[in-house]
Amino acid sequence: MAEERLQKILAQAGLGSRRACETLIVAGRVTVDGRVVTELGTQADPATADVRVDGEPLHAQRLRYVMLHKPAGYLSGMDPRAGYPSWEELVKVPERLFVVGRLDHDSEGLLLLTNDGALAQRLLHPKHEHPKIYLVQVEGVPNERKIRRLQHGVMLDDGPTAPAKVELLATPPLGFGKPKSQQMGSGGPGEPPVRRRPTRWLKVTLYEGRKRQLRRMTALLGHEALRVIRISIGPLALGELRPGKWRDLAPGEVRALRDAAYGGHPPELDAASTERKTKLLLPNTIAIDGPSASGKSTIGARLAKDLGYLYLDTGVMYRAVAAVVMARGVSVSDEAAVTTLAEQVELQVLPATIADGRDVTVLADGADISWDIRKPAIERAVSPVSAYRGVRQAMVLQQRRIALDGRAVMVGRDIGTVVLPDADLKIYLDAALQVRAERRYRERLARGEQAILDQVLVELRRRDEIDSQRQHSPLAAAPDAIVIDSTNLSIDEVMAFVRQLLQRWTQTHQRH
Ligand code: DC
Repeated sequence: MAEERLQKILAQAGLGSRRACETLIVAGRVTVDGRVVTELGTQADPATADVRVDGEPLHAQRLRYVMLHKPAGYLSGMDPRAGYPSWEELVKVPERLFVVGRLDHDSEGLLLLTNDGALAQRLLHPKHEHPKIYLVQVEGVPNERKIRRLQHGVMLDDGPTAPAKVELLATPPLGFGKPKSQQMGSGGPGEPPVRRRPTRWLKVTLYEGRKRQLRRMTALLGHEALRVIRISIGPLALGELRPGKWRDLAPGEVRALRDAAYGGHPPELDAASTERKTKLLLPNTIAIDGPSASGKSTIGARLAKDLGYLYLDTGVMYRAVAAVVMARGVSVSDEAAVTTLAEQVELQVLPATIADGRDVTVLADGADISWDIRKPAIERAVSPVSAYRGVRQAMVLQQRRIALDGRAVMVGRDIGTVVLPDADLKIYLDAALQVRAERRYRERLARGEQAILDQVLVELRRRDEIDSQRQHSPLAAAPDAIVIDSTNLSIDEVMAFVRQLLQRWTQTHQRH
């Protein structure tokens, strides 16, 4: 939010006229972020600054929390679209409220408005993922497979969507008017009504909010969204509030929102720890490469978890292509056919959506192949498949797009050399063949599979050879990668080493 003159902020908080508030400032009774301010021209951001009078927080005095049932055709954001009025036309209060979580101009339902900047920030922070529930009327009748795809997540232009809850409602929800398909155009007298496609209602719980996300998600599957109505944000429900009407939240609702936002931590403590975190400079993209079974996936996943970063094991994508090739009965040696499949298949690599021991959920054209990609037949097919130039091109494009937003740990064979040559930190993990074979062998036994150590060793050697001798993007350490040989190190020891690397990176980059 924009900065404003201090006397205006005080006046809006109900401390009297601007003139009266100027007297308070000059008398040295007002502090901003702990500093006494006596100058009248001082500006502050009312959404984030800690403004106090006689030591008492301003916000503790006049915080306002309002819910509005926004009708379609009103703007909730700052993007003034010609001809659309703003929500401010509907809610006339003296306080300067702002929107917590926008709604598209053509979407309806629960809009939360407040002047409590700290709470708004907490509620909007993507890390805290407060569920929002929407009723979505779509054109046509989505089948079960499409519902599942929406649930697992689909690939949008700006990256895959997070897993969501999606329910196909048997009947239109009560109280939201007739679905548009039933509002048949009457035509002229005696003319038959204009027929439209049937429609269905979905109840969707999202844990993220991107621009026009629901409309883009359903459109991708061929079902245009006709109405999108938000019915809850975290613990807050729209209930019976009619379109265009607003009300102040009840004290219990405010308490529930605060509990959800702060998750039981006192705000002060939490503010201090986020401040510490944001001050720490961290590498934005981290590349980890290395041969099979060098421990890169385990290390990469742990590192991403530590940092709260996105984690992508690119090997999974090549495995998925190999799995699709096998499933379609295409010959692994048919480069043209394999490449076409790699270019056409819609792959999604998501955090595990089912707790059955999987590391990740992998969908190929919506089908769950998370376990197929670990089968021995795929182990054999994946190296030849991933040696094809066209296959690599298709995968690298997707991988770069996923890393666009930064804050990512990406693991593979060519991340530091080809996919992200500008990665901030590059690590190359290696280990002696014998040790890697033993690791893979134990992994297989732990999964209840049969394995023979010597065979595993032969397979690994073969994959090493193909991966490092292929013509396109062979496995190699980037010149600026830090090589860690984990032959004699445990996972914890490697992790300790990686944390040291991070620390060193932070120190060097903080100084300059
Ligand atoms: O890491 P992994 O064992 O799951 O990888 C499977 C195969 O995918 C590996 O043999 C080579 C290929 N691969 C690749 O060529 N480039 C990558 N960035 C990742 C994997």
